[in-house]
Amino acid sequence: MNGYCCIACAQAQSVDFADFVCPACGGNLEITYDYADIREEFVPDYDYAPFLPVSRLDAPFPLKVGRTPLIAAPRLGESLGLRNLYLKDETSNPSASTKDRASAIVLRRAMDVGARTIAVASTGNAGSSLACLAAALDMRAVVFVPETAPVAKLTQALAFGATVLAVRGNYDDAFDLCLKASDEFGWFNRSTGYNPFTREGKKTCAYEIWEDLGRVVPDRVVVSSGDGNLLSGMWKGWRDLHAAGLIDRLPKIDCAQSENSAAICNTVRRLRDQGDSSPDWSNVVVDEVKAITVADSISVDRPRDGLAAVKSILQSGGEAITVPDQEILSAIPEIARSTGVFAEPAAAAPWAAVKQLADNKTIDADELVVCLVSGSGLKDIASAATAVGKPLAVEPNTGSVREVLAISV
Ligand SMILES: Cc1ncc(COP(=O)(O)O)c(C=O)c1O
Ligand SMILES: [Zn+2]
Repeated sequence: MNGYCCIACAQAQSVDFADFVCPACGGNLEITYDYADIREEFVPDYDYAPFLPVSRLDAPFPLKVGRTPLIAAPRLGESLGLRNLYLKDETSNPSASTKDRASAIVLRRAMDVGARTIAVASTGNAGSSLACLAAALDMRAVVFVPETAPVAKLTQALAFGATVLAVRGNYDDAFDLCLKASDEFGWFNRSTGYNPFTREGKKTCAYEIWEDLGRVVPDRVVVSSGDGNLLSGMWKGWRDLHAAGLIDRLPKIDCAQSENSAAICNTVRRLRDQGDSSPDWSNVVVDEVKAITVADSISVDRPRDGLAAVKSILQSGGEAITVPDQEILSAIPEIARSTGVFAEPAAAAPWAAVKQLADNKTIDADELVVCLVSGSGLKDIASAATAVGKPLAVEPNTGSVREVLAISV
C-alpha cells in the first residue's frame, strides 16, 4: 500500500496515517497502491500478497481463509433460463461466512501495529469471525452484538472465547458503542467500513472468482448488502485487477437488499432518478431507514460503508435490487435443493435478486453471473426452518413409512 484516499472528499493520507477515517470530513478511507509495482510482482496463482496492505504474509495463517469453491449452478440457472450461473460458496470459510476474509487482514494489521485486543460491532457474523480467527492467533476479541442476534452466531463467538457484549439495542447502537469503547479502552476497532482494512480482505473474493473462471471477468457479481462493505470490497477487487493491467473490462456489481432494509438501494435509485450517476461524492448523503428484516446480517439502519457501496454500484453500472423477506426465505431451499449449498437469509438474497432481474428481463440468458453466498444456513436455523417444511413423522416400522409416503405394494 502507498496511502489512503477518502471515499467522500478524495483527500489523500500518507501510508503512516494512524487513524481510521478522513481527518477532513470523517468519510471512510480507501487504501491505495502503486499498481505499476504490483503488475511487476504479481503472478496469478491465488497468492495476493502484492495486493494486500499487510506484512508477514509469508507466515502461514493457521486456518484456511478464502480459496472457497466457485460452483457452477446449471440447474438453479436453468429454472430462469440462465446458462452461466455460478455460486461463490463462502460458507466454507473457518467461521462459515465471508467475514473471515476481512478478519484475517484486520488481525494481520493489528499485529503490524502491535495491537492485541480487537473490538468489533457486528450483526453476528463479523463477531463470530473475529472470535474464531483471534482464537487461532491467540489474540483477544471483544464483540458487540445486538441482543437479538441469532443464537448460533453468538454461540460461535462465545465458544471461541471472545468477550461478547449483547447490546440492548440494534446493530447501529452496537456500532456506536463499539466505537466509543474502543476509543476509551484503547482497543483496535475492526468494525466494518470504519476500519479501511476490512474492504481489503473482502476484495480477495473478486481475485479468486477471476482465477476460478480461468481468468475471465463475469458480467455480474451479485452481492447482498447491509453496511455495504462486502459490496465495495468486491468492486475494489475488480478495480485492483484492472488498475494493475490484469483485466481489460469490469463486471457490474449488483446489490441485493431486503425491501425492509434498503438504505443503499434507495440512495442509488434516488441518484439515478435525479440523473446523477457520477455526483460530487462529498455532497452525497446516504439514506437511513428503520430496518426490520429476517435477514439479520443485512439489517442496518445506517450503512457504515454506504457511500462506498453506492459509488461501487453506480460506477460499475450494477442494479439496486430490493426483495421481500418472503422471497429471501424461499431462496434458501431453492439454492440448497439444486446446488447443495445451504445459505443463511442474507446469503440467499442474491439469488432472490437474480430471479427479479430475470423476471423483468434485465439479465440475458448468456450472461456470466456469480452470486455470492456469503454465510451458512447453519447460522440461522430458525429462519431456514420457516421455509423448508417439517419432517414426516413415522412409527418405527415400514408399514408406517409406506402409509406416510402413500407407497402401494
Ligand atoms: C452473511 C452476510 N452477508 C452479507 C453481509 C453484508 O455485508 P455488509 O454489511 O458489508 O454489506 C453480511 C454482513 O454482516 C453477512 O454477514
Ligand atoms: Zn474526506
